[in-house]
Amino acid sequence: MKTEVNFAGIKMKNPITVASGTFGYGREYSEFFDLSKLGAVITKGISYEPKIGNKAPRVCETPAGMLNAIGLENPGIKHFIEYDLPFLKKYDTAIIVNAFGGAGGTVQDYVKVCEVLNTLDIDGVELNLSCPNVSAGCMAFGTTYDGVKEITSACRKVLTNKPLIVKLTPNVTDITLPAKAAQDAGADAVSLINTFSAMVINTETRKPILANNTGGLSGPAIRPIAVRMVYQVAQAVNIPILGLGGIMTGNDAIEFMLAGATAVSIGAGNFYSPYTSLDVLDGVKEYLDKHKIDDINSIIGTVQMNQK
Ligand SMILES: Cc1cc2nc3c(=O)[nH]c(=O)nc-3n(C[C@H](O)[C@H](O)[C@H](O)COP(=O)(O)O)c2cc1C
Repeated sequence: MKTEVNFAGIKMKNPITVASGTFGYGREYSEFFDLSKLGAVITKGISYEPKIGNKAPRVCETPAGMLNAIGLENPGIKHFIEYDLPFLKKYDTAIIVNAFGGAGGTVQDYVKVCEVLNTLDIDGVELNLSCPNVSAGCMAFGTTYDGVKEITSACRKVLTNKPLIVKLTPNVTDITLPAKAAQDAGADAVSLINTFSAMVINTETRKPILANNTGGLSGPAIRPIAVRMVYQVAQAVNIPILGLGGIMTGNDAIEFMLAGATAVSIGAGNFYSPYTSLDVLDGVKEYLDKHKIDDINSIIGTVQMNQK
């Protein structure tokens, strides 16, 4: 059975990756399983300078999901290069670094971190244009065609030898527009979806539970919307798609691949159990076995829509 996929030039032994911000830089999860089993590790978002996150409480549970407003806290690129990258390089898995523009969040801030990433021994860069929990940059760029095009073009110029994946926000009316903008600006792939802007109120205190008031909704609650968006984007662009949003089982991952994803990520599912990504991989293999499919690539984008 062939499980290898070529995702935008990144050779992955299987299509299973872990979503940015839910797996740190791999260290903690490596105590549970061998990271070499994953097709790729996608790191927590990195900026040029270290960034302090939002005040606590930063997470809360919701029906079939969770809210988070971490605020893109991270130790900065220098620390990543010295401490995290050498650790990740010990494993036989692709390394995709999720990056953003830091506290300033300007185009120049994005370019600055990408210039450094271009020099590193990593397999790809995922540009976060979609975080709903910070005041500057990120989703501010990600919601319009022009915003995505401007920032992707600028980063593309300096990312001369690394696959560039643009991560899209679902907080838009038409997800195909930012996807087309990423493609038009030279991105090698898009990943979708990031979280939905959302709020939970404590009825006793009459205050939102998160100190940031709003946060990003993730987990199984968002999965059907993510599947619909992956399908729409697959019809609109020719570049490959990394699909994510609420994946918990092999069957969930297969849904995303049928809708058009070449690879998938497990996010909030990692908090439910550190083994969720491996369970998803086992489930995918069981599906291939049951349906006598000898190459996983043959199912990508093969959903058969009903005739209405
Ligand atoms: C605690 C937490 C932190 C996150 N941090 C990032 C981040 O740094 N960069 C990013 O692009 N996405 C980040 N995300 C979004 C996830 O990568 C993913 O797109 C989203 O959670 C949907 O997938 P899921 O439903 O499987 O969690 C974060 C999500 C959570 C729950």
